[in-house]
Amino acid sequence: DVPVIAIDGPSASGKGTIAQGVARVLGFHYLDSGALYRLVALAARRRGIELTAEQPLAQVAAGLDASFEGDEVILDGERVTDTIRSEPVSQDASKVASHPQVRAALMARQRAFRRPPGLVAEGRDMGTHVFPDARLKIFLTASPEERARRRYKQLIDKGMDVTMIDLVRDIAERDRRDRERAVAPLKQADDAVLIDTTSLTIDEIVNAVVARYRS
Ligand code: CDP
Repeated sequence: DVPVIAIDGPSASGKGTIAQGVARVLGFHYLDSGALYRLVALAARRRGIELTAEQPLAQVAAGLDASFEGDEVILDGERVTDTIRSEPVSQDASKVASHPQVRAALMARQRAFRRPPGLVAEGRDMGTHVFPDARLKIFLTASPEERARRRYKQLIDKGMDVTMIDLVRDIAERDRRDRERAVAPLKQADDAVLIDTTSLTIDEIVNAVVARYRS
């Protein structure tokens, strides 16, 4: 069967960078599950759907016309790569993700990324719900200050207008929502390896994950 490496953790813990690095080294496919929740949030906004309307949101999720082309994310034929990373969409995505029907509607789409020779999947519930049989499960953490710093740099580099104060607050709010939701809350799987990335370099973490996978 096709091996999966599940990488979970809170917002801005380094999941995306690490997962992409590991996928590159191993020649595996890559799933950014958070992008799917972000796309549902953006599509719902554009259709005027309330973020509390579970069933209409689940319909948007089930019918999502989205694709990943290299580093670009396409929604309804339009490039939305940067738009889905904005703070408003981040906040919306975390609200959309709290609805069980939305999560259920995205399940098959996520599992379809599992193709030979293997998949590196990152998110909140990759190891606990979407790929419980993953060959290797990693849970990444970093201090709240370090996570806010990383996200700040990322957004400023994209030319977005953000402040540290707002980011610290927004990340804390999304963390709380992710940890407290009833279905698939953010938590470390029992069989996951915990890595605190606060004072490690990207290369060090990627190498550690690859070494564990190969051992
Ligand atoms: O980059 P960041 O970690 O801040 O966010 P993301 O991974 O792109 O995910 C965006 C939002 O989707 C998060 O705030 C989570 O609430 C939600 N999410 C989720 O519920 N389950 C996943 N597997 C991935 C993301």
